[in-house]
Amino acid sequence: MIKIAGTTGLITLFKAFAAQALGLALTATLAWMSPALFHGAWRLALVQGVAAALWSNALRQPYWWLPIHLLFLPTAIAMLTLQLPSWLYLLTVLLLALVFWGTVKGDVPLFLSSNAVADAVAAIVDRENANGFADLGAGIGSVAVPLAQHPALKVDAWERAPLPWLITAWRCRTLPNAAAKRASLWDCNLAHYGVVFAFLSPAVMAELGEKVRREMRPGGLFISSSFPIPDWEPEKIVDVEDRRRTKLFCYRLCRPE
Ligand SMILES: C[S@@+](CC[C@H](N)C(=O)[O-])C[C@H]1O[C@@H](n2cnc3c(N)ncnc32)[C@H](O)[C@@H]1O
Repeated sequence: MIKIAGTTGLITLFKAFAAQALGLALTATLAWMSPALFHGAWRLALVQGVAAALWSNALRQPYWWLPIHLLFLPTAIAMLTLQLPSWLYLLTVLLLALVFWGTVKGDVPLFLSSNAVADAVAAIVDRENANGFADLGAGIGSVAVPLAQHPALKVDAWERAPLPWLITAWRCRTLPNAAAKRASLWDCNLAHYGVVFAFLSPAVMAELGEKVRREMRPGGLFISSSFPIPDWEPEKIVDVEDRRRTKLFCYRLCRPE
């Protein structure tokens, strides 16, 4: 589960190393059996990438690990060939760590909603007449910042990764009704908001659904981009005309009978 650091983080790291090592072992075995097919570092690196990605899948790592495994060794070889200065590696690792802060521990990585999603969410919020809006895992503010153009709406953008948070905070600097909160979405009290938005991952939706049920006020609206809450009936599903054909799953919190 996403918010558990410690052991889960170690298991994730162990699986990542295991997928790479098993990919390497498989490639070495294939190269030993058929040297003619596998000569040249590039060919070996590509086969190792595919093998590592397949092992990652077999080890049930989240899907965003696949491109990482596919590209890890080919990228390492490309970097060595280019003979780049060593400080550039340090800078790259630092930047990646600041953007993908909790991903190794299981947090959802950064990927961005389109402008069309922000427009669709703004239209929903207008209809709701809500005065408080939260984006859980706000990234660089792709949804929170356009929403905060409505001065009557108080917008909180919750983001844990330092660099995306800094970008959101900078984008919110002239918007008195918007706040970028550098904290875990699991520490956010949803009772403060009439509408809550999240674009996360299937892996967290059941747990997030529990949090929504526990904390949101009756009559409030929870919008999940792309990923439904398992076993919940959405009040409606909005189809967004963007490249990903995003679906917004809208869940109404029941009023007591
Ligand atoms: C898929 S991106 C969505 C970004 C933005 N909401 C959008 O729609 O463009 C998910 C974001 O959630 C953030 N995130 C993941 N787990 C988090 C947590 N526990 N607390 C706060 N932010 C988190 C990630 O750093 C990432 O920026």
